[in-house]
Amino acid sequence: MVEVTEEHLDSVWQVRTRSFGMGGDRDEWNKTARSFIVDGRYLGVLDGDELVAAARVWPYEQWWGGRRVPMGGVAGVVVAPEYRGRGVGSLLMRAVLNLCVEKGYPLTALYPATTVLYRHLGYEFAGSRQLYTFEAADLRTLGGRRTAVRKAGRDDADLFLELAAKAHEARRSNGPLIWPRAEVESWLEDESLFAYVAEDGFVVYKWSDGNLAVEELIAGSEETARALWATVGSGASIAKTVEACCPPFDPIHLMVEHEAHRKSWQNRWMLRLVDAPAAFAGRGFPDGVVLEADLRIDDPELPANTGDWRLSVGNGSATLTPAEPSGDALRLGPRGLAALYAGTPLATLRGAGLVSGGAALDAGFDAVFGGPAPYMLDDF
Ligand SMILES: CC(C)(COP(=O)(O)OP(=O)(O)OC[C@H]1O[C@@H](n2cnc3c(N)ncnc32)[C@H](O)[C@@H]1OP(=O)(O)O)[C@@H](O)C(=O)NCCC(=O)NCCS
Repeated sequence: MVEVTEEHLDSVWQVRTRSFGMGGDRDEWNKTARSFIVDGRYLGVLDGDELVAAARVWPYEQWWGGRRVPMGGVAGVVVAPEYRGRGVGSLLMRAVLNLCVEKGYPLTALYPATTVLYRHLGYEFAGSRQLYTFEAADLRTLGGRRTAVRKAGRDDADLFLELAAKAHEARRSNGPLIWPRAEVESWLEDESLFAYVAEDGFVVYKWSDGNLAVEELIAGSEETARALWATVGSGASIAKTVEACCPPFDPIHLMVEHEAHRKSWQNRWMLRLVDAPAAFAGRGFPDGVVLEADLRIDDPELPANTGDWRLSVGNGSATLTPAEPSGDALRLGPRGLAALYAGTPLATLRGAGLVSGGAALDAGFDAVFGGPAPYMLDDF
């Protein structure tokens, strides 16, 4: 296992092309790849001098229960075709998990092209990225005309981050990423993206094949939601539809008259807890919900998570502390732990064989981990 360096970039590009097909602008790709190389977040597998596999880890933060938890976003996992099916992908992913430990990410997440490799290593489905299509004409008439909306510029980056944070804290969001400031600035400078801001919300959208596509819309009130969606819908004389990645419980679904294609598209992502005590301490929990429960975690890949634990939840926070073994403990491996963390109902976890024991507290676990369905707006 090696850290990918500048001299490996040609080989990585070749393996990547053989894995995903021709992949866009090489200069752009080099630039992004170097951002992973500088602080050792690009790993590779060598056979002699030849680089035969690679994966990289984004230094993200994710909202969980309305709080920010650092998360290593795994991407670009590729093994050269002639080396596949021999354990190279697993070797690489084990090194990725250890890198997440080293970097101090309590969580890691990824969009899987195949679940098998990742499930073997303890990842499980946790949420999805969903795309909906609305009639532009329906959005145009949503109203909100009393709300002032202005064009946004580069100097609004901090305001955008602040408005997004306020909304995610208030909604106790699960899943969405927190963008680095530089990324928000680059949207605001990009001439193909149109950004507008109101007192408690903003929208970023663009043209997409003759129709419009919303990249992100945050609204702190009904009036602002109406005003921002109507701003996008004002393009209805040219655009028939507006595509939007948004959560399934976004207020827009309860305001708009039709879903243009009456179907949504979703791409699921998987989660894994890297450091269970830090992952529990970092996320938020519903106020007023209290739980004291014993857990028995068996994590063969990351043995620091293995053991008997006491989970104490109260005042919107939780601690996971080492405990004596208990016959009443909820027993689970890393896949069950990830799915539980993401709010999967206990009945589902039992139905899939991902947890056992501790049945008396199922309703308590559901109350503690239940909340808005986890989602992401970004692909990586
Ligand atoms: C997916 C990929 C990284 C797997 O690498 P690999 O070296 O073949 O993986 P391993 O040999 O370690 O296999 C680990 C497990 O995953 C399974 N697996 C690997 N590829 C699979 C596939 N395409 N479909 C189903 N299972 C697969 C293996 O059978 C093995 O499970 P088993 O031990 O129960 O048999 C590799 O096939 C690849 O580069 N594919 C193209 C790019 C891609 O899809 N990357 C993933 C992006 S998320």
